[in-house]
Amino acid sequence: MNKEILGFELDEIGRWSEIKIEILKKYASAYNQILINQKFIRKRIYIDAFSGAGVHFSKEKEKLVPGSATVALDAIPPFTHYHFIDLNEDKLNFLRENSLERDNVKYHSEDCNEVLLNKLLPTISFKNYERALLILDPYGLQLDWKVIEMAGKSEAIEIFLNFPIMDMNRNVFRRDNSKVSDSNIERMNRFWGDNSWKKAAFNSEETLFGIEEVKTNNQTIVNEFRKRLKEVAGFGYVPEPIPMKNKTDATVYYIFFASPKKTADKIVSDIFNKYRN
Ligand SMILES: C[S@@+](CC[C@H](N)C(=O)[O-])C[C@H]1O[C@@H](n2cnc3c(N)ncnc32)[C@H](O)[C@@H]1O
Repeated sequence: MNKEILGFELDEIGRWSEIKIEILKKYASAYNQILINQKFIRKRIYIDAFSGAGVHFSKEKEKLVPGSATVALDAIPPFTHYHFIDLNEDKLNFLRENSLERDNVKYHSEDCNEVLLNKLLPTISFKNYERALLILDPYGLQLDWKVIEMAGKSEAIEIFLNFPIMDMNRNVFRRDNSKVSDSNIERMNRFWGDNSWKKAAFNSEETLFGIEEVKTNNQTIVNEFRKRLKEVAGFGYVPEPIPMKNKTDATVYYIFFASPKKTADKIVSDIFNKYRN
């Protein structure tokens, strides 16, 4: 299928994106099964904030493969409610047209930060026995920390988050900060929630040329962000995230999971550990 037929460019994905979708597939089943057994839970909501078209072209397999939206719609047992958000109307229409018509599925072709903060997340109530799994899978720094914080504080919402370290390393964590544009600093502040990422990404060190800002490493940055998910957003459990690497062994992004539930932490840690190496 090409652009002329689809009306949009299908994403070509690498092995690491396929692993991300496999992880979601495994957890979606476990999530629904566990919550079904808790008879008092009234809603099991799936929200895909950067949903895409529900299908991709796999570079490795050289064929079409399901995306996160399709995997969630096919989950057994299923979720009780679905929300798909994507700024790209063509992708969202493709997803809608290729999914079975169901009245428990809603599509939102808007900026996900707006939809999540103003329409969806405030309606999910822990006290009313509603629970949600929120997938935050941007290409880069398109997410607002306020979304993560609102999810954490709700105690009803679990997240998978794509932490786009490659976008950060390329565009923000430059040794010469005069080369970093204001808009990239703004995107980074918005994603991290404030400018404390500077302390995580740089150390002041004495060098031959005087005091210099020296870049730390991915692990230090990721450790600090993990701390923020717990201490600032208020998630009770955040397993060690898993790095997703490309063919040249460079880390493209990390997958984080965060939840208020210990059981969820255990299940996802086991899944992550299978893929860690
Ligand atoms: C990495 S892809 C998502 C892939 C999908 N989660 C999957 O695994 O099948 C990112 C998607 O986010 C969409 N997007 C980018 N910025 C957005 C925004 N601010 N709000 C909603 N969608 C956005 C893009 O159109 C693209 O389809």
